[in-house]
Amino acid sequence: MVILAIESTCDETAAAVVESFEGGVRVIKSVVASSVEMHKKYGGIVPEVAAREQIKSIVPVITEAMNKNDFDAIAVSYGPGLMGSLLVGVETAKALSWAWKKPLFKVNHMAAHVLANWITEGVGHVPELPAIGLVVSGGHTDIILMETLDKWKWVGGTRDDAVGEAFDKVARLLELPYPGGPQIDKAANSISEKLWQANKDNFKLPRPLINDAGLEMSFSGIKAAVARMVESKEFVGWIPNQVEKNMLIEELKKCIVAREFSEAVIEVMVKKTLLAIERYQPRSVILAGGVAANIKLRENLKNEVLKNGVDFFVPELRYCGDNAAMVGAAALMSPDITALDLKPDPSLGVV
Ligand code: KG4
Ligand code: ZN
Repeated sequence: MVILAIESTCDETAAAVVESFEGGVRVIKSVVASSVEMHKKYGGIVPEVAAREQIKSIVPVITEAMNKNDFDAIAVSYGPGLMGSLLVGVETAKALSWAWKKPLFKVNHMAAHVLANWITEGVGHVPELPAIGLVVSGGHTDIILMETLDKWKWVGGTRDDAVGEAFDKVARLLELPYPGGPQIDKAANSISEKLWQANKDNFKLPRPLINDAGLEMSFSGIKAAVARMVESKEFVGWIPNQVEKNMLIEELKKCIVAREFSEAVIEVMVKKTLLAIERYQPRSVILAGGVAANIKLRENLKNEVLKNGVDFFVPELRYCGDNAAMVGAAALMSPDITALDLKPDPSLGVV
């Protein structure tokens, strides 16, 4: 089966054509248009600006993705997300389904992030179930147990801020541009290991709930600790190398804080995922969502999971952030057909 998939939950407008392939999904074409440049000047997403841009770009994006490809059905993500943005995708999908007489599948955006792991390009095989999923995005941080493709259970997650939200807020504190996650990732990876080792003890942040026996996490405390660190300017005693000597002291400080913040939240997420492995004995661990693009999280989690003899999956970078290929993948792997009275649901959870 070939699916035309549509995604417009936040600031991206995306369309893709995907098909079933060897027990998983093959992407024929994937197009993503982002209004991130427009949001940069406001330091965050302005919902009205996002929706207005999506109205303009949805038809060109779908046209480019279709590119003479034929398809059997349409899929659209109907939540969670911003109401204005969701309406653009859902109403367009309904109109096309009616006009072209193709069935319509509704897709939960967070489930789509998870099912992006069934896109087999560059991997060759799909995750074996049961799996533990660590789902990390701007609005969600959840640990789920996937018993089958349709039977998921929430087993843990954040009590307060989502980890992506924490990345974005810390980036603001460090005066890094929006969107913050990739900027923190870049800053954290830009200093030498030597500089980091010489300074890390001066920049310790808390790892909330890390020694707690449960699978709950908390990220708002770390953010507050970064705020205190920035205010009190406790920056002392590093040994810059030649390249680092040419950087402004303020820039170096930002990079060290970014590195310590990344280390802290990643340590918590890795520890909780390992605890979930111990508790549920899965065959695979799946990492998903926008924050799955984080270099250190991908590396550290993979290493630790493999040490435990469990298979590890994470989507290619282009399928980590919001895209429509994952929406098509979800419709193929866990189909949920809908009537044309579908309404957006901005507050949908991962399960
Ligand atoms: O899944 P996503 O694209 O949108 C939502 O569904 O929320 O996730 C966006 C989140 C943002 O908070 C962004 O800062 C974060 O993912 N993010 C990252 C990285 N790339 C994106 N966080 C850390 N490191 C990254 N490399
Ligand atoms: Zn997303």
